[in-house]
Amino acid sequence: MDVILTAAITANGMIAHHAEEVIQWSEDLHLFREQTMGQTVVMGSNTENTLAAELEGRETVVMHRDMDPSRVLGQVKTEKCFIVGGARTYSRFAPFLTHLFLTVHPQVFSSNSLPLFSHLDNDMRLEFKRLVDVNSERGIYQLQYKVL
Ligand SMILES: NC(=O)c1ccc[n+]([C@@H]2O[C@H](COP(=O)([O-])OP(=O)(O)OC[C@H]3O[C@@H](n4cnc5c(N)ncnc54)[C@H](OP(=O)(O)O)[C@@H]3O)[C@@H](O)[C@H]2O)c1
Repeated sequence: MDVILTAAITANGMIAHHAEEVIQWSEDLHLFREQTMGQTVVMGSNTENTLAAELEGRETVVMHRDMDPSRVLGQVKTEKCFIVGGARTYSRFAPFLTHLFLTVHPQVFSSNSLPLFSHLDNDMRLEFKRLVDVNSERGIYQLQYKVL
């Protein structure tokens, strides 16, 4: 099974100004919908609180601190499992990731914002796979990497 981290990030690798931010600056929602449809999405409880509606057409798992990431993955029945944030949840699933899909946005957030990973024990080696056009006029692309 593919375990894919997907995130909208700033040029300095941030995903939000703070843990309660409703993300309105990302431009890749159409791509997110297309890529995750029919698959499993895993999100943290803070991220769930920022969403206006449920993600229809996808198996959704909301992570709480007492849940075990490897057990959650063991119960996934779809071909792909998307880890959709936030920073704490990306970190907890880091050892299991097979791919990173990162859409870089032309913004820089201050250093007290939320980085992609809230904590990370080990480096990750990546192999570039594909570039997907999100908004070429604004220089917004999704970079797809395989974790080696
Ligand atoms: N740019 C993007 O692509 C993107 C994508 C997704 C989310 N976001 C943004 O990311 C932000 C949320 O990220 P986040 O990292 O704050 O939260 P999160 O990963 O969405 O959820 C928090 C997770 O950490 C656990 N947790 C909270 N406090 C803890 C503690 N003291 N010790 C251990 N576990 C704890 C929670 O469990 P409990 O439920 O048990 O508390 C939950 O599983 C929001 O602003 C959201 O909009 C951005």
